[in-house]
Amino acid sequence: MQPDRHEISVFVNGTSYRRSVESRTLLSDFLRHDLLLAGTHVGCEHGVCGACTVLLDGAPIRSCLMLAVQANGHELSTIEGLASDSGELSPVQRAMHEHHGLQCGYCTPGILMTMTAFLKQNPSPSEDEVREALSGNLCRCTGYQHIVDAMMAAAQAMRAAAP
Ligand code: FES
Ligand code: FES
Repeated sequence: MQPDRHEISVFVNGTSYRRSVESRTLLSDFLRHDLLLAGTHVGCEHGVCGACTVLLDGAPIRSCLMLAVQANGHELSTIEGLASDSGELSPVQRAMHEHHGLQCGYCTPGILMTMTAFLKQNPSPSEDEVREALSGNLCRCTGYQHIVDAMMAAAQAMRAAAP
């Protein structure tokens, strides 16, 4: 192994991966280029836009601000893991689709990951709380209203489906 490379193990969307990475490799690049999980988008690459958001041990993080080696031993969830194995959309995905919460879709994976974690923590949010939760994810197309509508609908659907 070259001195600037490291062996890492990560668990992504239920699958275990072991890879050799350079010290400098960003987690976002590792997901996209090494694991070919290109649904995680990269916008600003300095922590502002939220497009690269994934879940690390269930909590949303910006994968452009983390090195792949720092994810060693951790569990990650990306947009590719949100739908079920049979292709059924998650409640948050379905609500975004039904309420037209996207246009170009570039921000959408990050928003879906952020809001999946948020709605798990806060299943009955107010509209203001949804807007605050969304404030770290920039969308240049929608004006946000349809995303907010989608998240309120997703919260309602998730509450209705809860045992
Ligand atoms: Fe990571 Fe913009 S690409 S926050
Ligand atoms: Fe285009 Fe959000 S839908 S940036």
